[in-house]
Amino acid sequence: MKKCFYLETFGCQMNVVDSERIVSLLGDIGYQQVDEAEQADLVLLNTCSVRDKAERKVYGHLGRFKPLKDARPELIIGVGGCVAEQEGQKMLDEVPYLDLVFGTHNVHRLPELVQQAEEGNRRLSLTGFLDRETRLNLFPQRSELDTVTRFVTVMQGCDNFCTYCIVPHVRGREVSRPSHEIIAEVEALVAQGVREVTLLGQNVNSYGNKEEGEINFAQLVRKVAAVEGLSRLRFTTSHPKDLSDELIACFAELENLCHQLHLPVQAGSNRILQLMNRGYTREDYLQTVAKLKKACPEIRLSTDIIVGFPGETEEEFAQTLDLVADVGYADAFTFLYSRRTGTEAAALEDKTGARIKQQRFERLLELQQERSQQIWQSDLGATLTLLVEGESKQGKGQLFGRTTWNRIVNFAGPSELIGQLVDVKITKVFRNSNLGELVS
Ligand code: SAH
Ligand code: SF4
Ligand code: F3S
Repeated sequence: MKKCFYLETFGCQMNVVDSERIVSLLGDIGYQQVDEAEQADLVLLNTCSVRDKAERKVYGHLGRFKPLKDARPELIIGVGGCVAEQEGQKMLDEVPYLDLVFGTHNVHRLPELVQQAEEGNRRLSLTGFLDRETRLNLFPQRSELDTVTRFVTVMQGCDNFCTYCIVPHVRGREVSRPSHEIIAEVEALVAQGVREVTLLGQNVNSYGNKEEGEINFAQLVRKVAAVEGLSRLRFTTSHPKDLSDELIACFAELENLCHQLHLPVQAGSNRILQLMNRGYTREDYLQTVAKLKKACPEIRLSTDIIVGFPGETEEEFAQTLDLVADVGYADAFTFLYSRRTGTEAAALEDKTGARIKQQRFERLLELQQERSQQIWQSDLGATLTLLVEGESKQGKGQLFGRTTWNRIVNFAGPSELIGQLVDVKITKVFRNSNLGELVS
């Protein structure tokens, strides 16, 4: 009988890609994925530690599995990802029914760990960073997914050390994958039916900067865009300090580069940006936005913002509101600052009360939602091109695709359209998706 595993993934696209790899590695040792932990011989969580709430969630979820373990002591429970990397052995000490902990650089060794656990050798932890050479060799990472869109990792790790952020501590130093390997992977994906790729990394804009003789990110984007048969290209995440004019020009020149960019600003005040170690000023950021809009007038931007960084004053917060109103983001992901042990900002004094921070957070949310609504409502009645990705959850005969702005549109149509670009007239705009009608 086939053994079964259950996997839950939290956090960013890095974890999503790592989970794809986990699925394929476990397939190699005879495990098949199931949707219910109750049916599994192996239960895994791929975790995120970017904010305290995300980390606490992991312990909450593990608690849910305890009754399963009590009923079936042979069940193997494992934790991977960023919390695993950070906590390591400590997690085993705190959770007595946990069997395996594997960090972000040790995903490839999961099969080995699982096999040891099957033999009764449990309570194992594997964390710590690998050297560059080994990591570069581990990059190629394909699973047998049958999808129209795919992520392609171009770099891993982060060297930016924003003072609030745990990511450099749990993902290690930045390494960029050789460009010829990336191109070859995109070509193979397109041959297999993929029509859109998103180039992925913590800071894709600094791609190649630390590798001798490697091309830069704008050059990589051009090369990938030129792969025959690729309908669309996106990339994420961009750091504003490394967004070159050469890359901005790509938005004007490359037909298949989507008119959408996630450009995290984090704060609108120069003092706070400096305390965050972001490497740009408010003025630099606004100038970059102006250049982007000039190169590509229909571009839509999204961003990340942190509210309540230690010491942020009312005036400084007001500068964030002002910037948000000024830029006009189509979407913004707003977060309350969360203190992360081991980061530089954790040592800063923070006198602002939780209530004030919460009020600021709500003010920002209200402003942003208003702006988002304005932008998305303006699409009502417009005819937009979608890349059709698959059948929609809305029912039979219903498909879904995305606009160049990455917005989901549901519409009725035949499944032969999957993988194609089609024109759809927008008939209804909801908060997070649209409804449309196929234009023949
Ligand atoms: N590499 C990406 C994403 C990093 S994590 C980037 O640089 O943009 C995603 C977002 O989480 C960040 O952009 C930031 O807004 C938020 N974040 C990171 N650490 C945080 C913390 N300690 N508290 C609150 N939000 C945080
Ligand atoms: Fe974190 Fe900053 Fe790196 Fe993004 S760029 S992952 S926010 S340290
Ligand atoms: Fe979270 Fe790790 Fe990504 S901390 S945001 S899953 S890199």
